[in-house]
Amino acid sequence: MLNLNPALLNQLTDALDKQGWFEWPNAVSDALCHALLSEATAHAAAGALHLAGVGRGAIHQVNAAVRRDEIRWLTGETAAQQAYLRLMAMLQDALNHALFLGLFEFESHFALYPAGGFYKKHTDSFRGAANRLVSTVLYLNPDWQADWGGALVIDSKDPQQAPIVITPEIGKLVIFMSEEMPHEVLPTQHPRVSVAGWFRCRNTRTLMQ
Ligand code: OGA
Ligand code: MN
Repeated sequence: MLNLNPALLNQLTDALDKQGWFEWPNAVSDALCHALLSEATAHAAAGALHLAGVGRGAIHQVNAAVRRDEIRWLTGETAAQQAYLRLMAMLQDALNHALFLGLFEFESHFALYPAGGFYKKHTDSFRGAANRLVSTVLYLNPDWQADWGGALVIDSKDPQQAPIVITPEIGKLVIFMSEEMPHEVLPTQHPRVSVAGWFRCRNTRTLMQ
């Protein structure tokens, strides 16, 4: 269960507001992470993942120079996915309550970075649809070794401050502001499995570019 006690919620909303990101180790139980991990692994074995792309709709394209992960969208088709989506719905309510963000829906996908996989520096608002407000990543690999690489590196809002380096450890949930926080996934030497998700607001603010 997501342990959203008032003190932690305060810490989370304060961090999102001031620094734009929050790292939450052991946010999600090992049991749920293992259930999600076996789903992702089974989909990978069945060839049911597809190469992730960049951009939405007509401008969606796969670009292996930018990202090399394979994904599958969560649909809520299994009990584990339903449990995770329920946790995210609780988080959505909590964020709306504390920060008045008007978060309206959540979309998420499994992501498998094969050995050698990476995702170059980017922000999570795709061109053409700037309605992703808050990003989440849940990591699923048990016994992750720091020297395997695959860290998530988030630029600090304060250019004087060093970037934040986050190791992808099982159960850890990272939450950050989608449009304001450029980030990248460093090359991984070991297959790396996660669930990436985005809370969206209702309005699609079409970017004029
Ligand atoms: C993404 C992303 C970060 C991570 O999928 O957009 O930035 O640590 N993922 O997997
Ligand atoms: Mn991202």
